[in-house]
Amino acid sequence: MPWWRGRPVCCPGDDRLKAAVIGAGTMGRGIAQVFAQSGHDVVLTDMNQEVLPSALKNIWDSLERLRKKSLIEEEPSQVLTRIRTVKQIDEIGQNDIYIEAIFEKLNAKMDLFRIIDRIAPKSSIIASNTSSISINLLSTTVKAPGRFIGMHFFNPVPVMKLVEIIKAERTEQSTVESVVAIARGLGKEPVTSKDFPGFISNRILMPILKEAMLCLQEGVSTAQEIDRTAKLGLNHPMGPLELSDFIGLDVVMDIMEVLYTEFGEERFKPPIILRNMVNSGMLGRKSGIGFYRYGEE
Ligand code: CAA
Repeated sequence: MPWWRGRPVCCPGDDRLKAAVIGAGTMGRGIAQVFAQSGHDVVLTDMNQEVLPSALKNIWDSLERLRKKSLIEEEPSQVLTRIRTVKQIDEIGQNDIYIEAIFEKLNAKMDLFRIIDRIAPKSSIIASNTSSISINLLSTTVKAPGRFIGMHFFNPVPVMKLVEIIKAERTEQSTVESVVAIARGLGKEPVTSKDFPGFISNRILMPILKEAMLCLQEGVSTAQEIDRTAKLGLNHPMGPLELSDFIGLDVVMDIMEVLYTEFGEERFKPPIILRNMVNSGMLGRKSGIGFYRYGEE
């Protein structure tokens, strides 16, 4: 049995995992960073090869912020020696754990897991960072669903403590225990959830974001005042509209769509204001405009 199967990771660097992260967007690069920071060897890939250099630059910047605050001892360049980027999925090779962190589209994820399943050794764990898609459904793509699991990180990954671990019907308990141990070894706090739509976090978060959007849509107040209310009155670190821009309005809409389809309840239906913004390319921070404008004074 591999060392990380069912026993805690004791000291970063002692027992190095080989981790593959597929998808080098915001979440994938953050996940690659925390594995490398904890002493593990990472292979990172993306179907769009052009994002790989910016992913490494972004990881370096984040590591540098952590090093300046003495939160990590190693130099960023040293940590980066443990991250290898490859241009093709076929090159990810044999690893202990595979973590998918691509966009929230069911068919794309299903196709990807079929490829990973062909490459992955029998003892490895295959995980999805999906924020809302059914882990049970995704697990049908692999030959051994007992080693398939949800491992949901939060943005910004290097800062956020939580990892939601989602057990599908056929996930083996030893896989859950291994992933809990791995998450703890990354310095994270794992919580376990059954495979219900939105798991725990997004089932709570999406109605909050939706109500804030409805307040704006109905003219109750301005975006700034709505966000100030949540920050100063409820002690949220970001207001719900600011947070929606931060997550990406397309991502928020995709998650709401999954919850609405699965539960069939109005409380999860994406509001018109969100649909209109996404349809017109206003996706939040990444597009320069959402509920706020970015990159301007
Ligand atoms: N790497 C390293 N350090 C980072 C960082 C990164 N990528 N991003 C922020 N930090 C650090 C900063 O250096 C700073 O450290 P100090 O306080 O020690 O100086 C600290 O985090 C706070 O950052 P800032 O001062 O830049 O800004 P801030 O105080 O506004 O905090 C924030 C930024 C941490 C993002 C904070 O606003 C926050 O917690 N927001 C809420 C984030 C959240 O809710 N995330 C979950 C989204 S939902 C999700 O991800 C899941 C899903 O399925 C949709």
